[in-house]
Amino acid sequence: MLKGKNVVIGVCGGIAAYKVVEVVSRLRKLSANVFVVMTEHGTKFVTPLTFQSISHNPVYTDMFAVPDEWDIEHISLANRADIVLIAPATANVIGKIANGIADDMLTTTLLATKAPVVLAPAMNYNMYDNDIVQENISKLKNSGFYILEPEVGKMAEGSEGKGRLPEPSKIVDALTEILNQKKNMKDLNVLITAGPTKEAIDPVRFISNNSSGKMGYSIAGAAAKRGANVVLVSGPVDLTAPFGLKVIDVISADEMYDEVLKNYAIADVIIMSAAVADYKSSEIKQSKMKKNDENILVELVKNKDIAAEIGKIKDHRIHVGFAAETDDLIRNAKSKLEEKNFDMIAANDLTLDGAGFGCDTNIIKLINKNGGIIDLPLMTKDRAADIILDEVLKLMATKDDNK
Ligand code: PMT
Repeated sequence: MLKGKNVVIGVCGGIAAYKVVEVVSRLRKLSANVFVVMTEHGTKFVTPLTFQSISHNPVYTDMFAVPDEWDIEHISLANRADIVLIAPATANVIGKIANGIADDMLTTTLLATKAPVVLAPAMNYNMYDNDIVQENISKLKNSGFYILEPEVGKMAEGSEGKGRLPEPSKIVDALTEILNQKKNMKDLNVLITAGPTKEAIDPVRFISNNSSGKMGYSIAGAAAKRGANVVLVSGPVDLTAPFGLKVIDVISADEMYDEVLKNYAIADVIIMSAAVADYKSSEIKQSKMKKNDENILVELVKNKDIAAEIGKIKDHRIHVGFAAETDDLIRNAKSKLEEKNFDMIAANDLTLDGAGFGCDTNIIKLINKNGGIIDLPLMTKDRAADIILDEVLKLMATKDDNK
């Protein structure tokens, strides 16, 4: 699993830095390419030469060193990484990352990478327990960082507590598992709807809503990263499509309906995050409507309900819906779950800051058909997307078991 993978390891200034030498050695034995970046404090505990000898690669310490090739080193490392490990992750480095500070080779590489980042905190147990450190760790967790919990044991100063770096074998197992998990949707066909729909009234006017498409695009990007074949049917949004998937642009609910049905037959999983306009104008005027009258009447007719329609022919597929509510979140979401034959619904409470339309974060409750509810705290839409996909995989496994 690790053969040929590029593992970037950030070594910070903690007594446990010596254990990372063995992590590098184990990764090399598994044929991974290992690139070590050290903070200045890290070099006080283990010399760069040790890591260079074990990794068989130059060790990066200085952001301003003249590169051998014409490549900006931290960007090149960030792009090359399949996974990044920070071990030991000190309170100082955790605080910097959680607050977007990039002032050395390691922290700039971290900000620039799209690879999964695994933090292995190791420090004195009182420091680990400190509220600010814990707050920073949960901020990072919610932004999609993987945290390898420290172990309980004897500290360098002699007393016992939670703060020890896990053994090298455990760290390597965790890296393997995360890289594995990242491809756990290989060959699945995933159909996703995202964004708003626009229902024309005349050539310049329309009915729509505030969906930015961010939630759906995050899910689509995460599924593609896990190896799924993703078709994203997108309403009009101002986003760049994630890499490695097929996007079908639509404007109206009718167009979205047609494209979903065209791509439905081979889909294994359908995730409907689009905010489809429930109504459209009964006629689209060919010319711009004039403002002669005090009042005008636009007759609205109901759009087709895409989720409900495909819910009738669902068969073996997993359907996930969304509900954005201002009142009675759980009750309304549950009735949509039933009416539209979803396996799971993600309910966003629009009354909460950081949830729902437009923002980069969300606060959702995942309700499944059996009544189970997972209450997720505020987190990025990227992180929420990953959790939704993990739940989809669990639902698929349960369906297979019941066959
Ligand atoms: O796009 P963002 O800015 O990131 O915001 C995300 C979001 C808030 C739009 C998204 O997370 C969300 O909640 N989408 C669903 C909005 C909603 O309330 O949908 P609904 O209650 O109208 O519909 C329930 C479900 O049926 C949804 O899965 C919807 O896609 C689907 N539906 C609805 C109507 C319709 N005609 N066809 C449908 O398929």
